[in-house]
Amino acid sequence: MMMMESQRDWIALEQQYYQNTFKRLPITLVRGEGPRVWDSAGKVYLDFVAGIAVNVLGHCHPAVIEAVQSQLTQLIHVSNLYYNTRQIELAELLGIQSKGMRSFFSNSGAEANEGAIKLARKFGRVNRNGAYEIISVHGSFHGRTLATTAATGQASYQATWVPLPDGFKQVPFNDLEAIKKATSEKTVGILVEAVQGEGGIWATSKEYMQGLRAWCDEQNLVLICDEVQAGVGRTGTFFSWEYYGIRPDITTMAKGLAGGIPIGAMLTDPRTDLFTPGEHGTTFGGNPIACAAGVATVRTILNENLLENARQIGEYWNSKLEAFCDKYSFLDSPRGRGLMRAVHVKNELAGAIVQQAMEQGLLLNSTAPDTLRMIPPLILTRGDIDEASERLDRALAVVAEMPTAKEEK
Ligand SMILES: Cc1ncc(COP(=O)(O)O)c(C=O)c1O
Repeated sequence: MMMMESQRDWIALEQQYYQNTFKRLPITLVRGEGPRVWDSAGKVYLDFVAGIAVNVLGHCHPAVIEAVQSQLTQLIHVSNLYYNTRQIELAELLGIQSKGMRSFFSNSGAEANEGAIKLARKFGRVNRNGAYEIISVHGSFHGRTLATTAATGQASYQATWVPLPDGFKQVPFNDLEAIKKATSEKTVGILVEAVQGEGGIWATSKEYMQGLRAWCDEQNLVLICDEVQAGVGRTGTFFSWEYYGIRPDITTMAKGLAGGIPIGAMLTDPRTDLFTPGEHGTTFGGNPIACAAGVATVRTILNENLLENARQIGEYWNSKLEAFCDKYSFLDSPRGRGLMRAVHVKNELAGAIVQQAMEQGLLLNSTAPDTLRMIPPLILTRGDIDEASERLDRALAVVAEMPTAKEEK
């Protein structure tokens, strides 16, 4: 007789059959609705991780379900040898939002960035005597493929994989002079996150982003903004670079774009729109199911005013974080924009807070032992924030009693 799902030991089975690539928390999630998820034991959590900035509409949003279900019965997959209506609809929506960029769809953020790197190199071949080097920034994260690992500005992600592809260089965060100094005749483009995600939620300054735009114009370089984490409304504007009053030449997206269905996108301005048929491609990218989910997600964000909600609820959540920083001596420096937030945690207690919050029914994430990150869905209400605050307060009160919380460091 088959075992019931609830009787299986999922953690033991994972250890037997899944590769050792993830440091997982000891819960198995089986159901989600809105900002909440349930584990296999029936416990409910408010989800402020949201699949790492993926579930922008929360879990199982009716618009995504409806779009995917109806697409499933119509056309599941078709090759990019043919036109496909959902793909063109999503490209149209993104073209309108970006004020004139054209899309290429992939399946992930890393792949979207690979496409951006290739397109920048094509620009270098056509317009800059074969220049190919991309300058990126310390603390950045751009993906797990070899080229995006080479572009990622964190040595810990690179050390094991050397030799990495040639043509990448990193300079300090938010430092325009460093970019200028690093630029040479080999340079073709600059790759940045306007708000760094995996690096710990660090927003660049307006002067910096505007300075980068001006520098790229002056030097005929390609400005690439990686919007994989900060995009799709997370910071309160559809693209996080809108806040800066600039537009990059190329921008990449993934995570939240299809409300939980895998997708990536690489968008380009006409100046850098240089691919010709056969130079780039994908089997699954732009698949009708993913694009139907993308269309539903983007329309819902726009029609339900979720950008404004991200701004307002984000401010409300930040006011709660400020209060926690006043109340608990081991927390300080609340930061971020919209619903992309973090606080600094002293004495490497971020992991303990994540653990205690989970016990209290709140999912949080730490990007480092000193950084607590919160990237919840854009549909949150003030009531959800109040509930999350009560749970976090209880978790922090437990952590405050730990000996390490009392040590002066
Ligand atoms: C800014 C940024 N770029 C790229 C990626 C890679 O995306 P994916 O994991 O979908 O390949 C991530 C993932 O966290 C990201 O945060």
